[in-house]
Parts: sequence; C-alpha cells; structure tokens
Amino acid sequence: EKGGYEHFMLKEIFEQPKSIQDTLRGRLLVNEGIIKMAGIWDHLDRINKAERIIIIACGTSWHAGLIGEYLIEEFARIPVEVEYASEFRYRNPIITEKDIVVAISQSGETADSMAAIKLAKEKGAFIYGICNVVDSSIARFSDAGSYTHAGPEIGVASTKAFTAQLTILSLIALKLGKHNGNLSNAEFMRLITELDNIPKKVEEVLKSTHDYVKEIAHDFVNSTNFLYLGRGFNFPAALEGALKLKEISYIHAEGYPAAEMKHGPIALIDENMPIVIIAPKKGHYDKIVSNVQEIKARKGKVIAVVNYGDEQVASMADYVIEIPETSECFSPIVASIPLQLLAYYIAVYRGANVDQPRNLAKSVTVE
Ligand code: F6R
Repeated sequence: EKGGYEHFMLKEIFEQPKSIQDTLRGRLLVNEGIIKMAGIWDHLDRINKAERIIIIACGTSWHAGLIGEYLIEEFARIPVEVEYASEFRYRNPIITEKDIVVAISQSGETADSMAAIKLAKEKGAFIYGICNVVDSSIARFSDAGSYTHAGPEIGVASTKAFTAQLTILSLIALKLGKHNGNLSNAEFMRLITELDNIPKKVEEVLKSTHDYVKEIAHDFVNSTNFLYLGRGFNFPAALEGALKLKEISYIHAEGYPAAEMKHGPIALIDENMPIVIIAPKKGHYDKIVSNVQEIKARKGKVIAVVNYGDEQVASMADYVIEIPETSECFSPIVASIPLQLLAYYIAVYRGANVDQPRNLAKSVTVE
C-alpha cells in the first residue's frame, strides 16, 4: 500500500499535488470567481465581525497556524493570535463571545488542542475546526469547519496534511477578505488564479528538485546541527523545515526568522553549520541577500531555496535549489516541498525509521 515508494512519508510527499487539488476541489471556482466554503459562508457575519481570531494547534499544525496569521491579517485584516494549545489552556486566557477560535489538527484527536477548544467554547467563543480526519473529536466538537482533504496520513512526520492546511487557510483568508471588502475583485481574481496553479507548481518542484535534494542530503548525513531561516510568510516554513529534520533524522535543527540571526544564533555559525535559507524573489529578498552575506562571511554552508534564474543569493550559496515563482503568500507551500525531501533523505541515509521515528506517535492523545 506504499504504492511502490520505500516509505509512506515519501509517498505522501509525492501525493501533494493531488492532496492540494483535492482540498481545493469544489471550493475554488476560478471561472465563477468564487470560493465556496459552507462553514465560512454560514457564519460569515460573525467571523468577519470578530474582534480577533485565535488559532490554536500543536506541532506542524501550529506552524500552519502561523502562516494562517499572515494570510488572514494580510487579506481579511482581522487581528490574529496563534497559540500553542498547551500554553493557551493553562494560562487563564482572555476569551469572549466576540472571539473566533480556529483549531487546526490533522488527527482531530490531539488532547491539548481538544482541551483548549473546550475551554474557549465554555467562554462563549465560536469554534472553527480545520481537521483532516473526518468525524474526529475536534471536528465533531467544532461549531463549524472545513476538512483538509489530504487523505490518510500514515507517516508520523506530517507533510501532505501541512500543505493541505495551508491551502484551507489561504481559501479562508481570501474568502473573508473578498466579503469584507479588504480585497478588491481584481486582487481576489489574481490570487485565486495563482492558488489554482499551486498543485501544478508543486508537481513541477517534486520532479525538478528530487534528485538534486537527494544529493545534497548525502553531503550532510554527518551534520549534528542545522539552522533554517526565512522571512515573512516563509519564517514559519523555516520552523517547519527544522521540525521535519529533527523528527526523523534526530539531527538538532532550529528555525528562525532570518533577521533574528544577528540576535543570537549567528554565534553558532562556522564552516560546520549548514543553513537552509528560503529566499524567493517576492518577499524581503534584499534583506535575505544581506543575511546570506553575513552567513558566508562566517563560512556557514548555505543551502538556498530560490526562484528560477536567481543570481544574487545563488552566486553566494553552496547549494541552490530552484523553485518556480508564485505569490509570496503561497510560497511556503512550494518551498516546503524540497525541505520535506531534504529531511526525508538525510534520515534515510542515516538509517532512521522514517515512518515511525523514535519517541513519536501519530496522534498525541495524552497531555
Ligand atoms: C509533526 C507532527 C506533530 C503534529 C502535532 C499535532 O510532523 O506530526 O508535530 O503536527 O502532534 O498533531 P495534529 O495536527 O494531529 O493535532
């Protein structure tokens, strides 16, 4: 049932063009110029009038939530806070009936996330669930929601569920922005047309980067540390890239917003430190160029994810992974693909049990 792949994780990485398409299907209707989401439509007034949206999740789903914050604030202009479920529930949070709480969970069974939304509901908040597993506890407990149609995710390290979460969050942000007047029709049309292209771009990236990323992985099997850097929408993508590597290869990795480097992590950089840097053309590119200069001045090994034809970052980086250009807001979906492959192949070369990493369970039903 691994469909010819050596591991479920690799199969699931390769399923992403389809899982993203499945998540868009029936919702993104480009020709009609609309996004159809019953969960949002039926409660549009309440959601668009919310004083704030609180996104609650754990792990990879929390990283998706951070990107959700950027998306919703950018397009719908509603203030968003993103919380770790475990911290939220134990700190006597301020919640009112005017709050919308969005819970993101692949399994829909994560104990901390479930407890957090119970608490929020008691205080009168409206609960919106984004789950992958149909009829899961969080999905049933929510007042409304949207399923990610990623299909069953078996590898413990989340891949296709993550990109499906980003897809749903993009749809929600664009739909809210369209209806509350923050997005012009022209801008909305431009963005949905681009979102519709994402499955194709992901397909292209899988084909064009796979062999090269596998080679890069081979050069770093013996590394003991990694830094992942990104800015803007790609800062959370850096966090997620680092988490993937930690989980399955057991190499210590940390993700940072690139600008934070000089506030501490730069002290770690020497010729033995690999640094994965996400540097698409759209989104603080010039700032990233200076970050790469700072790293190279300290002899760090730079693995850069850039757009086709990039020259500035590419000329300094030790390894250059090229991906197609897209809107900045969707670039984390495309940029995450080579980072998933990198973590996967490093783990495979280290002989790790990729689908069932030590100490981890697919759904964390204990606190
Ligand atoms: C990462 C991973 C975990 C989960 C986290 C939340 O690859 O699998 O970090 O993302 O345990 O799980 P869900 O999304 O099921 O609530």
